[in-house]
Amino acid sequence: CCKCLIGPSMLASDLSCMADEAKKVIAGGADYLHLDVMDGHFVPNITWGPPVIKHLRKHCPDIFFDCHMMVSNPEQWVQEIKDAGGDQYTFHLEAARDPAGLIEQIKATGMRVGMALRPGTPIEDALPWVDSVDVVLVMTVEPGFGGQKFMADMMPKVAYLRAKCPEKDIEVDGGLGPATVDAAARAGANMIVAGSSVFNSEVPAKVIAALRRSVEK
Ligand code: DX5
Ligand code: ZN
Repeated sequence: CCKCLIGPSMLASDLSCMADEAKKVIAGGADYLHLDVMDGHFVPNITWGPPVIKHLRKHCPDIFFDCHMMVSNPEQWVQEIKDAGGDQYTFHLEAARDPAGLIEQIKATGMRVGMALRPGTPIEDALPWVDSVDVVLVMTVEPGFGGQKFMADMMPKVAYLRAKCPEKDIEVDGGLGPATVDAAARAGANMIVAGSSVFNSEVPAKVIAALRRSVEK
């Protein structure tokens, strides 16, 4: 099936020294960095936007930047995220006025296209767009904050999608760590975002390796 990839979520890092934190998890085996952009409107929290990503890119020139756009106007930031160094632009289906147009807009920049679903959004809502995106992100917490409890009841969405699309990248995000990753892997997720489980550890490399073992087995 698809390649197993582990993406630490920088939201859980010490953001006052984000570049050092990023380098630490890259050295620890991260396949990509998950960057949570929040606008205080689509979700009740604010993080960062293109300027921060652009600076981080200078410190980490080679790692894949997965930009999770928890914003109300996903159309507005596509070019800026591309210019800042984004490699994947994941919009929320709930925020997209014209998903087909947005997907084309992202593709035109050369970025990979991700489509994210809040926990309350049925997987059926994603089906019209699945073939035209690279990644479907099934949220396993309500977006907005790190450190929340993994929602195991999202796994049927992952399994349903995996059965329909054996080759699609399916990403999960929220509450993932060594204790919960097995359920996600069994359901068919192959891209694992992990924030607090990685950054709250004394040895992030060990957690990244443990996550990878679970998904690859
Ligand atoms: C939540 C974010 C997640 C978050 C995950 O809105 O999308 O990426 O950082 O953090 P953990 O792994 O701590 O749940
Ligand atoms: Zn995220």
